Amino acid sequence: MTERETWATRAGFILAAVGSAVGLGNIWQFPFKTAQFGGASFLIVYIIAALGIGLPAILAEFVIGRKTNLNTINAFEKLGYKEWRVVGAIGLFTGFWILSYYSVVGGWVLRYIGGSLTGAYFAAPAEYFGQVSAGMDALALHAVFMALVVGIVAAGIEDGIEKATKLMVPSIVVILGVLAAFAFTLPGASAGYAYFLSPDFNALTENFADIVPFAVGQAFFSLSLGMGAMITYASYIDGDQSLFGDGITIVFLNSFVGILAGLVVLPLLFAQGIDPNTSGAGAVFISVAGAFADIPGGQIIGLVFFVVVLIAALSSAISLLEVVVSWSIDNYDVSRPQMAVGLGGVIFLLGVPSAIDTAWLGWFDTLAYKLLLPLSVLGILVFAAWVYGAPAIDELMKGSGLGDGVGLTWLWLVRTLVIVAVVATLALGLQTLFL
Ligand code: PHE
Ligand code: NA
Repeated sequence: MTERETWATRAGFILAAVGSAVGLGNIWQFPFKTAQFGGASFLIVYIIAALGIGLPAILAEFVIGRKTNLNTINAFEKLGYKEWRVVGAIGLFTGFWILSYYSVVGGWVLRYIGGSLTGAYFAAPAEYFGQVSAGMDALALHAVFMALVVGIVAAGIEDGIEKATKLMVPSIVVILGVLAAFAFTLPGASAGYAYFLSPDFNALTENFADIVPFAVGQAFFSLSLGMGAMITYASYIDGDQSLFGDGITIVFLNSFVGILAGLVVLPLLFAQGIDPNTSGAGAVFISVAGAFADIPGGQIIGLVFFVVVLIAALSSAISLLEVVVSWSIDNYDVSRPQMAVGLGGVIFLLGVPSAIDTAWLGWFDTLAYKLLLPLSVLGILVFAAWVYGAPAIDELMKGSGLGDGVGLTWLWLVRTLVIVAVVATLALGLQTLFL
């Protein structure tokens, strides 16, 4: 078997992890949910969730990955806890599951790049979305998106994922920045800012029981936790850089891109008098697309917008395919390209129902959000903090130059508050799943 690959540079790892984190979650979910759940007051809850729960959880995944330099299943065995491989397996399955429908949405984005160029969706955005989001068209573009993902992953860690994300992540930030500046010039933009950023504490207190689990779930999804992605990416680290520092950087950049996306999307909608109170698929593909139909230069702006969404979706999708590819090449004597093609094909097939009917897509997504993700994150946290325990602190603090107090704080935060928060999220999710 050939030697295991590594990232060429520390920045390469950070950018790849940010590429995984920044995705459709930031661009379509985050701005709308923030606006809906009370604007700036939700932002505060989200930032607390991201720093207080998301950050400790991402650090737990980094520790498991770097310590073992193995994929998300074998890592648990190498640490001496063979039975805990089941947690890794749940994560791997979750990633597999999510990628199947994420790729369908990636296909829609491809379609909207073309639709912006030709102005196809301008006349009737809702009808257009209805036509292209399900059926043979959607299936074909799902295949194209998956092929792009396979192509990058097949090229390997350094030559594929690292090179691609080094280009992609800065592009996302720069292009969103330019779009935000453009949105700023639109008449009516200030109403969008007000809606996005003015705190509404009533909305917050009234919906507290919905908002908190959502904020936690969003932090997990957005940071790509519970899908094996961060364990896998950290397993390619070669060196003693501060995982703590990397984690903070990644959480910060991920939140920053979400806010930036809000500064693009909401002024656009308000400038056109479009109700932002739709969320999910319709929000980006109908409301935002509808706004492009009416602004000057909408064809170009629409094109640029959907290109940036595509880049964000691709740089996330490759991290999920890498989870399964990594596992298979660590265990079997097959080449990376062969595995990428084969597994990409299986994921494509799993996504067929979602491509044929958006009701399936919704069901896949609901199951992932409410059951698979919190369950998987919970398993990882219990393992890292209670089972593996103290040795995790050494791995976490290596190269950080910080005292053991920080590591101990992490350990006890995970052992108590973070685990309780995840259990609560899981319980609330299950309740709404089955009742
Ligand atoms: N963090 C991603 C997002 O916000 C979630 C994700 C990661 C989805 C990897 C798919 C693959 O979109
Ligand atoms: Na994200």
